[in-house]
Amino acid sequence: MQHDDPAYNPLEDIDQIIVDEASIQARLIELGKEINEAYEERDVAVIAIINGAIIFVADLIRQLNISMKLDCIRIANYRDDDKSMQKPEIIDKIRLDLKGLDVLIIDDILDSGRTLSHVTEIFKAMQPASLKTCVLLDKKTTRSVDFEADFVGFHIPDKFVVGYGLDFAERYRQLPCIGVLRPELQNPPEWS
Ligand code: IMP
Ligand code: MG
Repeated sequence: MQHDDPAYNPLEDIDQIIVDEASIQARLIELGKEINEAYEERDVAVIAIINGAIIFVADLIRQLNISMKLDCIRIANYRDDDKSMQKPEIIDKIRLDLKGLDVLIIDDILDSGRTLSHVTEIFKAMQPASLKTCVLLDKKTTRSVDFEADFVGFHIPDKFVVGYGLDFAERYRQLPCIGVLRPELQNPPEWS
């Protein structure tokens, strides 16, 4: 990271590209088709988990030709002292009334599964007509709770990735591709 360098390009901090820009753009079109077919003639509430899903949701919903509303929630992960693990909590609530709507929750990445399993439990109590989840990335081997998403962009290996909405300490979200940071720029992430 060279923030005093006017020629700084965040792409130079990437060691290995995991999903390139063209692959993301091509997959968006396919995912859009899958979602359009799944929700034909329905009224959908797309709920983005921000900040991570911000870029993905912005691009994906422009592939949708269904009737839909959009809202966002924000999650914080608090350390649970007893179990020494992260406990997700919704800190910025949705404004939409989900009752009777087909809800599609969208996140950037499915890792331990705790975030999406917690959010779906809370939303179920709001009596939606249906509840599905969509993630851009799925690290299948890292689950600590049993959870699978209904729509998945890409399955990726267990590596900490940034770009296309995903951050390291709130940086690199603007990258058009998904990649792994150079080793000297990595340290154990404190996700929030
Ligand atoms: P889960 O609750 O462990 O499934 O994790 C979901 C959240 O962890 C995502 O919404 C991301 O904010 C964060 N996360 C997990 N893996 C990564 C990664 O490789 N890069 C950036 N953020 C990640
Ligand atoms: Mg994050």
